[in-house]
Amino acid sequence: MTRKLLVTSALPYANGSIHLGHLVEYIQTDIWVRFQKMQGHSVHYVCADDTHGTPIMLRAEKEGITPEALIAKVHAEHSQDFAEFLVEFDNYYSTNSEENRVLASDIYKALKANGKIASKTIEQYFDPVKNMFLPDRFIKGECPKCHAKDQYGDNCEVCGATYSPTDLINPFSAVSGATPIRKETEHFFFKLSECSDFLRDWTRSGTLQAEAANKMTEWLGEVGENKLSDWDISRDAPYFGFEIPDAPGKYFYVWLDAPIGYMASFKNLCAKNGLDFDEYWKKDSTTELYHFIGKDILYFHALFWPATLEYSGYRKPTNVFAHGFLTVNGEKMSKSRGTFITARSYLDHIKNPEYLRYYYAAKLNGSMEDIDLNLEDFVARVNSDLVGKYINIASRTAGFINKRFQGKLKMDSHNAVVQELMNAKTLIGNAYEERDFGKALREIMRLADLANGFVAEKAPWVMAKQESSDHELQLVCSQAIEMFRLLTLYLKPVLPKLAYQVEEFLKIPALDFSNVEHALGNDHRIGEYAHLITRIDPKQVEAMTEANKENLQSSVTPVVIASTHQVEETNYISIDDFTKVDLRIAKIVNAEHVEGAEKLLKLTLDIGEEKPRQVFAGIKSAYDPETLKGRLTVMVANLAPRKMKFGLSEGMVLAASDELGGPFILSPDVGALPGMRVK
Ligand code: 2FM
Ligand code: ZN
Repeated sequence: MTRKLLVTSALPYANGSIHLGHLVEYIQTDIWVRFQKMQGHSVHYVCADDTHGTPIMLRAEKEGITPEALIAKVHAEHSQDFAEFLVEFDNYYSTNSEENRVLASDIYKALKANGKIASKTIEQYFDPVKNMFLPDRFIKGECPKCHAKDQYGDNCEVCGATYSPTDLINPFSAVSGATPIRKETEHFFFKLSECSDFLRDWTRSGTLQAEAANKMTEWLGEVGENKLSDWDISRDAPYFGFEIPDAPGKYFYVWLDAPIGYMASFKNLCAKNGLDFDEYWKKDSTTELYHFIGKDILYFHALFWPATLEYSGYRKPTNVFAHGFLTVNGEKMSKSRGTFITARSYLDHIKNPEYLRYYYAAKLNGSMEDIDLNLEDFVARVNSDLVGKYINIASRTAGFINKRFQGKLKMDSHNAVVQELMNAKTLIGNAYEERDFGKALREIMRLADLANGFVAEKAPWVMAKQESSDHELQLVCSQAIEMFRLLTLYLKPVLPKLAYQVEEFLKIPALDFSNVEHALGNDHRIGEYAHLITRIDPKQVEAMTEANKENLQSSVTPVVIASTHQVEETNYISIDDFTKVDLRIAKIVNAEHVEGAEKLLKLTLDIGEEKPRQVFAGIKSAYDPETLKGRLTVMVANLAPRKMKFGLSEGMVLAASDELGGPFILSPDVGALPGMRVK
């Protein structure tokens, strides 16, 4: 049965670049969409830039351009990034579109007609210099708990406390520096508090991921309980967005029209392609609607959005697929570590987007767990799986077919390995369907191992030396090429460009799941084999992180505060932050080279514990291991152990360096003993 699917990824804000964190979602969705298309289903994948709101308005002002000019510039940049990462939208639109204005207004009117809109007078912070109400993020002040200066209106980045902006001591506007005043204003609310029963039913009838369903239960509480608050959907001028019908000076809050942007993008596609909008959005639609999102915006997509649709006369999503966050080398992406990497920077340094697509796919399993991009593992995995296993099958056999048999295949016998590859279709298909791409790739690599085992056992390079084995050589290489065809087919949702190159090389029509059993024909002629991919050099990754490293000293822009406030630096940490780092005197009891490691030395460190610690330190360029033995130095003892290619690293030694030299490891003064705390 051909299914009809409409699929979306969350709309990225139009005031920043696409980075590797964003790409987890777009790559995940794109793989799923490509898989569904390869199954022969009718799929439309739409997205758009999320263009409205105060930050975008202020950013444009700062750049001295109109918001329209800013969003046009960012739209072009985002579209280019997605295209280069092979994320193939059927439409990439904008929430600042006429379709969206009409849909948002109509939906609002329908909600109002259904009694779901209330108006209330609330009190909010107002900037008397800028003449605007301030979102929480634009109010700063002293944390009421730890008294750290220059904290945001909703939470303290020093002690982690959460509070409301009214709790801040000496609040000031981050826009003008003025002291904000409290001011009354009328806001419109969507009565979410009346939607608990509906949402409970929707959760129960749906197929939400287990973790998402648990979250819903937590938010909704027990039957009869009402834990949901009404949702504030209006903002006062000045605001970049859509003015609310019959309410001059009032605008839809960005999060009201953002998901409607999914509909608007699709509506725009319908106009281009002659599709029927209502077939996909009317209340009793039999088409399927899926939203891929990050777990941080589940609240919007699993509460506000289905309720908005329900009470404005539309269908509800078939499912919402939430994924976790991206960490890089086990930690939050960081500008100082150079791991806050933009899509553009990745493309500039690593070049091949399919490596990242492969790595992410290998890590994704359809759950809300965070995924880690370990850069060393990234290099190792891509090189070993894609180059060492997959491409290897063609590179070791295609040359013989080209040179000895004029590109002609001989396919006249049954082969057990080929059969096993064909039989894996269901398992791999199901794993893709379930968004367990990691499982699909594990199976594909298991099959690649079998194929390599077959080639190694038959050793065509030995046959090639004996003329009597010509026929056998042609058969073995042809079978290996058929295995390569099947592996390519299975990898195609993840590696679409490479698959296309293989289709050209094999001279076959576009691979899809209906051609699994259609083996290459006897006497089929393939094209000339040219090397398809190359290994990643760890130096490329290093250059990328180096290029993204921001020097903290120069990157922290002091907030310049006019009038009553002084210029303040924002890059202080508290003493509590400092004492979190457990620094110890360590005795280097052993130091040695590590085979295959360009920069590392393996150190064995005594810090007064029962067992010495093993630490890999990037100091090989500056030290002969022999000279280190017996020396005292300083190590971070409570750094989370890190699994490296060469073994576990249980801490870090401190060393100084800059462009003038280093690394120089530290030495304590005479008298310090292993295990002493440095503070
Ligand atoms: O969190 C974000 O980045 C939002 N721009 C996502 C919007 S998704 C949809 F609802 F529009
Ligand atoms: Zn604090």
